[in-house]
Amino acid sequence: MKTLWQKKSIPALDSEALEMPETLSGADSAHRMRRTLSGLDVVLLGIGCVVGAGIFVLTGHAAAAYAGPSIMLSFALGALVCALSGLCYAEMASIVPVSGSAYTYAYATLGELIAWMIGWDLILEYCLGATTVAIGWSGYVVSFLKNLGIYLPELWSQSPFVYDAVSGWSRTGAWLNVPAMLIVAVTTLLLTLGIRESTRVNNWMVVIKVAIVLIFIAAGIGYIDTANWITPSNPDGAFIPPNGGQIGEFGLSGVLRGAAVVFFAYIGFDAVSCVAQETKNPRRNIPIGLLGSLTICAILYVLVSYVLTGVVPFDQLSVPDPIAVGIDAIGMHWLSPLVKLGAIVGLSSVILVLIMAQSRIFYVMAKDGLLPAFAAQIHPRFCTPYLTTLLVGTVVTALAGVLPIGLAGELVSIGTLSAFVLVCTGVLALRIRQPELPRAFRTPAIYLVAPMGALSALFLMSGLPADTWIRLVLWMALGMSIYFAYGRRHSALNTHRVNAALG
Ligand code: ALA
Repeated sequence: MKTLWQKKSIPALDSEALEMPETLSGADSAHRMRRTLSGLDVVLLGIGCVVGAGIFVLTGHAAAAYAGPSIMLSFALGALVCALSGLCYAEMASIVPVSGSAYTYAYATLGELIAWMIGWDLILEYCLGATTVAIGWSGYVVSFLKNLGIYLPELWSQSPFVYDAVSGWSRTGAWLNVPAMLIVAVTTLLLTLGIRESTRVNNWMVVIKVAIVLIFIAAGIGYIDTANWITPSNPDGAFIPPNGGQIGEFGLSGVLRGAAVVFFAYIGFDAVSCVAQETKNPRRNIPIGLLGSLTICAILYVLVSYVLTGVVPFDQLSVPDPIAVGIDAIGMHWLSPLVKLGAIVGLSSVILVLIMAQSRIFYVMAKDGLLPAFAAQIHPRFCTPYLTTLLVGTVVTALAGVLPIGLAGELVSIGTLSAFVLVCTGVLALRIRQPELPRAFRTPAIYLVAPMGALSALFLMSGLPADTWIRLVLWMALGMSIYFAYGRRHSALNTHRVNAALG
């Protein structure tokens, strides 16, 4: 049987094979995913995965601690880093329109080992990302219900552990974060039942959360007053507050630190490249989804941060619900519960798309033989990769029940940024090695955009703490051990090599 990229260590791309990706690696070929998603669905999936905890929660902290009113510059900078990588993702997606995102791209350009590393790395983005957002979701639900006079017992709505860098792990006295587990379980069930059903629910959730963000912008824009830029640390009311004496504490370095923190808000736009096999005309629609959702989110984020720091002095924004604080500041108290509801809906769709993305990556890995092949089964009736969806859902449900929120966030960012570095490198390698391949989308000025994309992602990674790097190295070491113990011996490429040797 023909495998997808079997010829050399940077394997050749076979355009005939790319048209029929389901038949490539010998796993289940009896049932196929259905191509049901339109360009608009894919853009909405992107927005569904992007607009979440980053804008509803992190904006306030980043403005208060690092950037002040210039947090809108941090958002613009974050968008630039993502746009450079997004342009590279878009070209890759137009050549390799197969589920699996950066994993598949790395497989096509950099070989199986690097592909495994990137796939392993993406678990940090998608599994841990979904876990982080589910824990944030639980926090919002508990507070929303409290406003309605309903009190959930702390024993069953918090993580049993906390972690901080100084004292390490300790017990909280709680047993399990049940709301976080429930949202993941419900989402997993929906994803198992069908991609069409899931995207329909996602589309509604996106409409609701974007409407709430737009209402906030429209309501607040008339109340912006630069007098709100004046705080004890910014007595002159400068747009970029003066540096407070430490790197990252306001000033230009604060804008950069702010960009590294709010980068989380952009995570997820790349997830749309995981549904290439379920998208109509993926060579056209996946680039549209990637770049369309990124552009819309960047505009929303810059506007929200401009309005928020214009209506509330930034030193009052280090709260879990900064947008609700902004709403209260302009006197529209009735809107505040709606904002919380918007955040809850918004976070739900982020969880949905992240779990969907992770299950597609495992599906492709299983087809390539790097994970047990039985996992690559497509449900005969629902046409979804139900086994990998259930596997991911179970793991994320368990993690969401016990992990504290702070630990996961930075690992999610470092995992995503390293995927960006590999995609930018890979797209350039492929342009040099196989310039003749048909590309429905070509990254403009690739010799500038791809290196700048990789360097800017590395730059943001360099701002993350040392212990996050250590965890990344340990995680990758674990991944390598699994690859050499299992993946290498069972991979479809290896099977081909053995078959070739046997004649
Ligand atoms: N970008 C997603 C969020 O902000 C992960 O929740």
